[in-house]
Amino acid sequence: MSTCWLQGKTVVVTGASGGMGAGIAATLIKKHDCTVIGVARNEKKMLHFIEELGPQYADKFSYRLFDVSVKENWESFYEELKADEIKVDVLINNAGILPKFKRFDKYSYDEIEKAMNINFFSCVYSVKTMLPMILESSTPAIINIDSSAALMTLAGTSMYSASKAALKGFTEALRVEFQGKMYVGLVCPGFTKTDIFSGQGDADMSNGAKIMDMISTDCDKMVKMIMFGIEHKAPMQVHGFDAHAMSVFNRLMPVYGSKLFSSVMRMANVDIFKEVFSD
Ligand SMILES: NC(=O)c1ccc[n+]([C@@H]2O[C@H](COP(=O)([O-])OP(=O)(O)OC[C@H]3O[C@@H](n4cnc5c(N)ncnc54)[C@H](OP(=O)(O)O)[C@@H]3O)[C@@H](O)[C@H]2O)c1
Repeated sequence: MSTCWLQGKTVVVTGASGGMGAGIAATLIKKHDCTVIGVARNEKKMLHFIEELGPQYADKFSYRLFDVSVKENWESFYEELKADEIKVDVLINNAGILPKFKRFDKYSYDEIEKAMNINFFSCVYSVKTMLPMILESSTPAIINIDSSAALMTLAGTSMYSASKAALKGFTEALRVEFQGKMYVGLVCPGFTKTDIFSGQGDADMSNGAKIMDMISTDCDKMVKMIMFGIEHKAPMQVHGFDAHAMSVFNRLMPVYGSKLFSSVMRMANVDIFKEVFSD
């Protein structure tokens, strides 16, 4: 049994049906005996997660199916929690999407709004709604899963980077505004092997997919690093060699760093970036 501050807490994890969110939820339950309420849209994926978790942990996990980018969904969720007398100690905003890599002019307004709403506004809504309840906890905490894309912008990621940079600014403000009152964690992972790349289209064996696979961190390893940071209340986490490289280069060369990385992407001449570098 852990003696960590997370022990036995009630945690809301968005995007718990897959990828890093599923790993985080499982670790919270298995290692810290937390009660986790997972949020996502796809019930099939959620049921698969529960099956993987195992029947012995079934009473520690419940789920709600809703789109996190809709403010009213958070308001109803909050009312439901209050009616059920559930008190949440920790909120982990993890749900997110990676829009297809494209040059900005090729994005539709639908794609632009989706990126901002799911990756950024969902966190604003969840924090605004859940904060009064979380602040009543003896260990209040909000952790936002951001991205290395908030540390350096690459060609083809305008809307993803914008959404994640907004999330970084929002989280950093929360951190100083609630200093001493609540643990606020910002997590910036680099490329990680999850289904987030499935939206990039093309077959698994495309040359782009192979390169992404080569530079991506294994999902379990990333979850372990993130959980270690949360267990130690790290205010900011950067994980993965690519994320560290982006962070360092962007600080040393705020303009040329991004140009250099984007030139490497162009030279790689891979299919997933074809809508970034062609007219
Ligand atoms: N993988 C990477 O390389 C990487 C790198 C840096 C940062 N990140 C960030 O890490 C977080 C998790 O990513 P991941 O790689 O684990 O992605 P993933 O495997 O695609 O999982 C995303 C999760 O978010 C949920 N989700 C997506 N849109 C939602 C919505 N509108 N409402 C409710 N739930 C929604 C999905 O569930 P449903 O489909 O069931 O709704 C799923 O559970 C994201 O914020 C991502 O931006 C990922």
